[in-house]
Amino acid sequence: MLCRLEGKVAIITGGVSDIGESTAKVLAQHGAKVVIADIKDQLGQSLVHSIGPSNSSYVHCDVTNEDQIKNVVDQTVATHGKLDIMFNNAGIIDNNKPRIIDNEKVDFERVLSVNVTGVFLGIKHAARVMIPARSGSIISTASVSSRVGAAGTHAYCCSKHAVVGLTKNAAVELGQFGIRVNCLSPYGVATHLATDFMEDDGDEKLENQMNLIANLKGVTLKADDIANAALYLASDEARYVSGHNLLIDGGFTIVNPSFNMFQYPDNS
Ligand SMILES: NC(=O)c1ccc[n+]([C@@H]2O[C@H](COP(=O)([O-])OP(=O)(O)OC[C@H]3O[C@@H](n4cnc5c(N)ncnc54)[C@H](O)[C@@H]3O)[C@@H](O)[C@H]2O)c1
Repeated sequence: MLCRLEGKVAIITGGVSDIGESTAKVLAQHGAKVVIADIKDQLGQSLVHSIGPSNSSYVHCDVTNEDQIKNVVDQTVATHGKLDIMFNNAGIIDNNKPRIIDNEKVDFERVLSVNVTGVFLGIKHAARVMIPARSGSIISTASVSSRVGAAGTHAYCCSKHAVVGLTKNAAVELGQFGIRVNCLSPYGVATHLATDFMEDDGDEKLENQMNLIANLKGVTLKADDIANAALYLASDEARYVSGHNLLIDGGFTIVNPSFNMFQYPDNS
């Protein structure tokens, strides 16, 4: 079933690679006009080339800079007449330093600035143009780190918990205008962010590591799985879904592995 977003206009921050890139492609395949907002301009231009300039465009936007977020929203409305979908997906993680006493304030604030302030600004400026339209879907990328501890650094864990808080508050405030606000929480996906963080030499190695500790076996989480969840939340099929943190984690965050309750002796 293609074209679930016919006539819709979307902005995707952090849209040039991995989860953002997959989502840009999936939303465009389903008929949306997609505005890709990122700081990697060359990759942005080549992504537009591959999706096609008739249904995608690229705007330089550092999500920590309010003028640049305002600009991408205003440019989108000037070009397409409206904004239906805002996907706040840009995110970073700091280096893994297991002891809090080794963590630097500057690194902590850098992560919060992209992952929290960036999402706040995205919601704020999307709301500015969606409120008069009395409709819209705002989606942000959180993480399993929004639900459990020790799945990311201190800064990352705080930042993703904050995304859930912002999602709830914004869903309550903006519900009166017909605007839905949700977030997505993926388990580990082999992306640039994850492989850099794990200091791994490749996607396959990271996927094997993730699969080993995953709850759901026989499936490897891919960026397209997140893109398809974003497609659902963006589409009218989710027209009464708001305020959710949609976990895309195969049940990882609901397991308490210490009891080891349901392990079949031979897995048969
Ligand atoms: N990969 C995972 O395992 C995983 C799991 C859960 C959540 N996430 C989240 O998914 C989102 C996408 O990450 P990814 O895994 O695809 O990694 P990625 O590094 O490929 O993508 C992140 C994108 O954000 C962009 N970006 C970084 N800082 C920016 C800024 N200041 N302004 C605008 N764009 C900026 C980057 O250029 C990049 O295109 C992030 O929010 C991340 O926290 C990832």
